[in-house]
Amino acid sequence: MNKPLRVGVAGLGTVGGGVLQLLNRHGALIAHRCGREIRVTAVSARHKGRDRGIALDGIAWHDDAMALASDANVDVVVELIGGADGIAAELVEAALNAGKSVVTGNKALIARHGPRLAALAEKKAVALRFEAAVAGGIPVVKALSEGLAGNSLSRIYGILNGTCNYILTEMEYTGRAFADVLAEAQQLGYAEADPSFDVDGIDTAHKLAILASVAFGTPLDFESIFIEGIRQVTPLDIEFAAELGYRIKLIGIATHGEKGLLQRVHPCLVAADKAIAAVNGVFNAVVAEGDFVGQTVYQGRGAGAGPTASAVAADLIDIAQGHIHAVLSPPVAGAGKTRNLAMDGYEGRYYVRLSVDDQPGVIAEIAAALRDEAVSMEELLQRPNGSGHPVSFVMTTHAVAEAKMMRALARIARLPFIAEKPEVIRIETF
Ligand SMILES: NC(=O)c1ccc[n+]([C@@H]2O[C@H](COP(=O)([O-])OP(=O)(O)OC[C@H]3O[C@@H](n4cnc5c(N)ncnc54)[C@H](OP(=O)(O)O)[C@@H]3O)[C@@H](O)[C@H]2O)c1
Repeated sequence: MNKPLRVGVAGLGTVGGGVLQLLNRHGALIAHRCGREIRVTAVSARHKGRDRGIALDGIAWHDDAMALASDANVDVVVELIGGADGIAAELVEAALNAGKSVVTGNKALIARHGPRLAALAEKKAVALRFEAAVAGGIPVVKALSEGLAGNSLSRIYGILNGTCNYILTEMEYTGRAFADVLAEAQQLGYAEADPSFDVDGIDTAHKLAILASVAFGTPLDFESIFIEGIRQVTPLDIEFAAELGYRIKLIGIATHGEKGLLQRVHPCLVAADKAIAAVNGVFNAVVAEGDFVGQTVYQGRGAGAGPTASAVAADLIDIAQGHIHAVLSPPVAGAGKTRNLAMDGYEGRYYVRLSVDDQPGVIAEIAAALRDEAVSMEELLQRPNGSGHPVSFVMTTHAVAEAKMMRALARIARLPFIAEKPEVIRIETF
């Protein structure tokens, strides 16, 4: 058998602990599969004395994670600390500079610094792999970069954040408000103490930026993504959506064509009979569409020790087998430019919920604002809220340019009988 692949793991939390457990349990199986042992030779975390429920006998401990980059007994550094900057970024850069391959689950790091780090990995002819960074246990980076490599991909979209999907699912099933469900998710450990990365759509956008670059071969570009989170979605919206035949999901969507690349993250109304509408709780799903293959759907657990360790192990096995191909496809060195499209140029259908003081002429004034921007209404639902309270009513529109829709809404929001800021959710016809 060939020499073992010697691995240094930085970070022994949820994911790092899971990786050690997986390699421990499946050491023989993996050695058989890739023709060589994958052996953890060194680790680093903040607190040496912490009981992690994993055996660290015979493994070197480094108080300073940076030492892994220069450890002569480490061939591959696995970065599972997290954060776009700081120690994680420094370690990955130092390891690549030292000619070591790197595996990471750090989507923030790849979304922010991917192109620079990928160029460094290419220059040093080592691997930089990040399967665990997108959709946890779902092998979607591999599916896109290898399984669908013969296709021209036009669209990729997915439910990429388990926390948001859990919150929206719970809101739907229990009728409770966002803040209430978020507080429960925090208690259960499904949401961070500071939930903004998740609920404001940033985490989904990090993953979408990576997916789009892998799928389309376009330069990774996080900054140009249009991002809206789920804080403003109410149980009433979920109810109205159901009445209209839709469910509400936070989805990251990237489309690529002759005009350029549009990347957007926002809550969407999706028809209840679509595959992605049936993805509940903490599950993730990704849909990729190619010209020869048609639509492909991938679903599974997007987070947690087991699924994420599964993805890290797959990357390590690839490296152990000598697969050190370009990180982002095509290689960063040869990547062309792409025009990034702004949301203004987007055209789609909309769900709009208005809360209005019931008085004569309301509908006529709203209709006038829509007419002047050539927005055509498709359906209208109204719900009385009891005497003296504003009336909720909801309309859906036919396809219209985002800029026109937003102008019409700005005018509607200024009408004297509008009791609350109008709620707008885009309708996706996948
Ligand atoms: N959790 C998931 O389900 C999941 C899914 C996909 C991707 N990821 C990504 O995987 C990465 C790790 O996430 P996680 O959930 O495993 O995080 P975590 O449970 O918070 O673990 C972080 C680990 O990093 C260690 N650490 C922190 N600062 C350090 C430093 N300066 N030097 C050395 N070690 C340091 C901590 O040490 P101590 O234990 O001693 O405090 C801890 O072991 C993140 O990039 C995350 O985005 C996580």
